[in-house]
Amino acid sequence: MCGIVAYIGPREAYPLILKGLKRLEYRGYDSSGVALLNDDLRVYKKKGKVAELEESLVGQDVHAHAGIGHTRWATHGEPSDRNAHPHSSASGRLAMIHNGIIENYAQLKNELIKKGYSFQSDTDTEVLLNFVEDIQKNNNCGLEEAVRIALRRVVGAYVIVLLDKDHPDTIIAARKGSPLVIGIGKGEHFLASDASPIIEYTKEVVYVNDYELAILKADELILKNLGNEKITPFIQKLDLELAAIEKGGFEHFMLKEIFEQPETIFDCLRGRLDAEKGIITMAGVENNIEKLRNADRMIIIACGTSWHAGLVAEYIFEELCRIPVEVEYASEFRYRNPVIHNGDVIIAISQSGETADTIVAIEKAKEQGAFIMGVVNVVGSSIARLSHAGAYTHAGPEIGVASTKAFTAQLAVLTMIALKIAKEKDTIDQTRYMHLLAELHTIPEKAREALKAADSIKKLASRYANDANALYLGRGYNFPVALEGALKLKEISYIHAEGYPAAEMKHGPIALVDETLPVIFVATRDSYHDKIVSNIQEIRARKGRVVAVISQDDEVIPKMAEDYMTVPETDELLAPMLSVIPLQLFAYYIGIAKGCDVDKPRNLAKSVTVE
Ligand code: AGP
Ligand code: GLU
Repeated sequence: MCGIVAYIGPREAYPLILKGLKRLEYRGYDSSGVALLNDDLRVYKKKGKVAELEESLVGQDVHAHAGIGHTRWATHGEPSDRNAHPHSSASGRLAMIHNGIIENYAQLKNELIKKGYSFQSDTDTEVLLNFVEDIQKNNNCGLEEAVRIALRRVVGAYVIVLLDKDHPDTIIAARKGSPLVIGIGKGEHFLASDASPIIEYTKEVVYVNDYELAILKADELILKNLGNEKITPFIQKLDLELAAIEKGGFEHFMLKEIFEQPETIFDCLRGRLDAEKGIITMAGVENNIEKLRNADRMIIIACGTSWHAGLVAEYIFEELCRIPVEVEYASEFRYRNPVIHNGDVIIAISQSGETADTIVAIEKAKEQGAFIMGVVNVVGSSIARLSHAGAYTHAGPEIGVASTKAFTAQLAVLTMIALKIAKEKDTIDQTRYMHLLAELHTIPEKAREALKAADSIKKLASRYANDANALYLGRGYNFPVALEGALKLKEISYIHAEGYPAAEMKHGPIALVDETLPVIFVATRDSYHDKIVSNIQEIRARKGRVVAVISQDDEVIPKMAEDYMTVPETDELLAPMLSVIPLQLFAYYIGIAKGCDVDKPRNLAKSVTVE
């Protein structure tokens, strides 16, 4: 969810906001805009980079002492000029920017349409803005009160910042779930998603908490809760340097994104998974359920880490939906002469939505009549637009070249799709279905628990930083995690690593094993556990150095391993979302120990848009 900057005070607002938006570019975005207010309210917004917005404003009237600015990471409505923020209310009196997702926007939109409202954009943001204005009209109240009433009905995550043409001396903001910082200046106030746009003007900040409302004037800050009770602002002194702020206090984007996974998995489930009621809501699946439930075969097409997510999905879909699944490297599929039948469903998995191999592979399948389901992170990306239907992973911008949070978000989405189809096909019994929904609901918290081992993983990683090779082994759902762990080590530390099915060792690779070779087992408790213990014995018998990812209560493997990393217990079908986390950290800390550029590894690009 992207960037917000706002200002009210004696300075010219526009240049300050523009500079602040540039400070937030690192977070990834697809469009930007500003609203400027003095005696009139002007909104300028544009798809593309902030520099393009700036260029389009040369010669325009940008004089103002109050303004709001936004960089958008689209969730509802593809990147376009009209979907960019700020949005204007129906009357044109209000302008608003928003970070986050309004989950019940469709319901609110229907209510407003019945009242005669029409909409200029496809966004959830514009719905909320008109909902606020409608409340103000019907209750004949001030904007602050209307925002409070509206937010009591809103379900979702938001930071919203509003300007009211009739009150040019005031900015109103509210927060739940997305970040918001207030900068306290002398006779001026700043708002931003993090402190990076603020730090050069003031080091005195107030971090707004969930369900709080801020009413800002140049020389006054009022903080209230949604019950209209005043809150004393807790002013803190910024002690982070700019570079550190951009990474949320983490040393690298990769580490920040590994630690974001409890939130990003939660965001992925948000508005979709209702474990109590046993309901999964996914329009892309519901609207195509006949095609999906009657699929003769599923062909999963992807590259790299997304391909590993596809391998996990193969096990999940075959187990739950009893549909044959094939997982294809897009780069191979596109050059073959694949046999595609009408009853085939293609699932295209991609973080960027711009991977050239995957795009061409989809086009080839589409030409032959296949139905394309996209699981993509970037809204409005090429693969999203090429797909007949899909589900976004809502992992937010992934800046580190190595894919981490996108992988676990992909697994969460694919699991929900499989559960929906299995329920529809009645290939899963109600008890197991409800158990898996309840367990899926606990994954964000269990991911948080898995991350607590970071310091111990950092210590043990240093013992493997000088090795030239590594072998990653797993079985069942954890076999693709072994591949993913090996890829992370390769691309972050440049150590050669290979992933393999653990049972496959005896067909050749076991010849590699000696006292110099670390063998990393992904061995969380599951139906293969006894088998993988035997595989560990085989490696130990040949003096291999055993490292293992295990479940917290495992008492067998710790006695067999030189080192081990633990994750909370969960259903084996969901285990990859947790067992991958220690391997992400293991690769990251080895890369750091070797002095590698972990955010931008040599030879790699974040999105491989070339063949
Ligand atoms: C994974 O860490 C790499 N960055 C790379 O393998 C990536 O997963 C692959 O290029 C696919 O990218 P996509 O998910 O954006 O299509
Ligand atoms: N959900 C809003 C939209 O899609 C805001 C997205 C964001 O956080 O940038 O426009």
